Amino acid sequence: MSTQRLIFWLRQATLVLLCLPALHLAWRWYTDDLGARPVTEATHVTGDWTVVFLLCSLALTPARATFDWMPLVQIRRRIGVAAALYAGLHFLIYVADQKWDLVVVALEIAKRFYLTIGFATLLMLAALAITSTNGWQRRLKRNWKRLHWLIYPAAVLGLLHFFIQSKANVGEPTVAAGFFAWLMIWRLMPAKLRTRFSGLLLLAIGATLAAFVFEVAWYGLVNGISPLRLINADIDPDLFPRPVHKVLMVSLGAIVLVAARRGAALLKRHWTRRYIRTTIPTS
Ligand code: HEM
Repeated sequence: MSTQRLIFWLRQATLVLLCLPALHLAWRWYTDDLGARPVTEATHVTGDWTVVFLLCSLALTPARATFDWMPLVQIRRRIGVAAALYAGLHFLIYVADQKWDLVVVALEIAKRFYLTIGFATLLMLAALAITSTNGWQRRLKRNWKRLHWLIYPAAVLGLLHFFIQSKANVGEPTVAAGFFAWLMIWRLMPAKLRTRFSGLLLLAIGATLAAFVFEVAWYGLVNGISPLRLINADIDPDLFPRPVHKVLMVSLGAIVLVAARRGAALLKRHWTRRYIRTTIPTS
């Protein structure tokens, strides 16, 4: 398949995959399958997918570099726009829950810190989605890159919103923050290390430690829980998988995938050389 054709199908498949969570949610709504509090469930589902797509859009640059596969860049814009659209839907469901009373919505956003930062994140994601087109890129020139740097504060504030609203159990936000740490450490690492296995191993350790620090800091500061209790929980096999284990497993999984991709590329090169040697006679 030609690269052009591959990119075409990759973009179409991405579009379908990005629509699936919304379609699934609509189906659950239609079939009355959202539980006792359907609006709360819909708010949670759309919030979760916003974070997932936000992290996926940030993961594409490292994925392209480590898998050495250029077409991946072609889907970054759609994933970023999808994150903004899911955030918009998340907000709309919240507004619907407030009986479309915009004064109440504004007062709640001003009063509750986790909603204030959620709103700030939404504004940033909207600005990034609107200016993501080629036209805006041309118009803003060098400022486009500066503006799109907003993705980092947006991700931090989105994660903080996730932590605060999770209240007593911050398992899911800890996993998301661990993945975010992986993505940030990758960007801060020396370029030479980023694609090496030793670098990826360091990343796995760094992201797992970061997830542990987030967990300890949150439970320590908010619930007064001692770090020792968390260490005990993390080494207790009965409590597997805890957030730190999930971050470690996914990070190690990424190394296995990179190894498989490089192994396949090596094999392909070997077979191509062998084919040339056996079929094209040397003079
Ligand atoms: C004005 C904007 C926003 C409002 C009003 C809002 C409101 C809410 C509300 C009411 C909840 C549920 C809280 C509860 O059940 O106690 C929630 C959860 C959540 N929100 Fe937002 N949010 C906003 C923006 C965002 C953005 C931009 C993101 C992502 C970057 C986000 C991610 C989440 C996540 C991940 C959850 C938790 C889902 C779960 O627990 O499974 N929110 N939000």
